[in-house]
Amino acid sequence: MAQTMIPALEVVADLDALTARAVERVLAAMEASPYGFRFGLCGGHTPEGLYRALARPPAEGRVPWERVIVFLGDERRVPDDDPRSNFGFVKRVFLDDVRLPMAGVLKPKAALPDGDAAAAAYEKLLRREMGTTPVDFLLLGLGEDGHIASIFPSSPALDEKDRWVMSVPAPTTVGPRVPRLTLTPVRILEAREVLVLVSGAGKAAAVARALAAEGDERACPARLLHRAGGKVTFLCDRAAAARIALA
Ligand code: 6PG
Repeated sequence: MAQTMIPALEVVADLDALTARAVERVLAAMEASPYGFRFGLCGGHTPEGLYRALARPPAEGRVPWERVIVFLGDERRVPDDDPRSNFGFVKRVFLDDVRLPMAGVLKPKAALPDGDAAAAAYEKLLRREMGTTPVDFLLLGLGEDGHIASIFPSSPALDEKDRWVMSVPAPTTVGPRVPRLTLTPVRILEAREVLVLVSGAGKAAAVARALAAEGDERACPARLLHRAGGKVTFLCDRAAAARIALA
């Protein structure tokens, strides 16, 4: 297992600054990677500005679209046109506006009635299209309950050692309360770079718990990122970082 390490913290003024910094981080990673760029997207609303910015000049012109593969790190088990669908959201604010070949978008069949079958099929697709090479860049959000992707407190996914994708029940701590598919720590921890986007005072307690030297992964799943051995940055606005004592 990789060495346990507290993730890095970068604090910016507000959501606009967070968006601008996230754009820079994504473009820098794309520019530094000469081959296919495996880009994991998160759901939630914090990355909306980032997605919109990547789809428009000036950032849009710097993205090597022909070698970018995007996939979702988690999905709600609803049809794509349901307002709760992460894919639907990402498509509306990002994918519909870019020159990404359709083969460059990997999405789960999230609405299949059998969640385990949907998870297995999505894992098969990821393995087929991206191989076992680590993900180049993984975006994550953080929930007020300390979740990342769809790994909620006490999730069985925290102990997963083999599967890349799991079907998990609806969360009881946050909405939307629908069953999910989620990438597991197996794939998350191998990513070359992980950027966790966090904005707003409502997340301050979760950020403090996620980054504390001591704590319980079951209570705050984001703490599993300590196992990634230093490839993770929490990019927070000032409100979200308010409970961290900055050196
Ligand atoms: C989801 C997610 C989830 C999200 C966080 C933060 O599908 O719900 O991918 O992990 O990123 O809940 O969401 P916000 O950015 O909306 O606060």
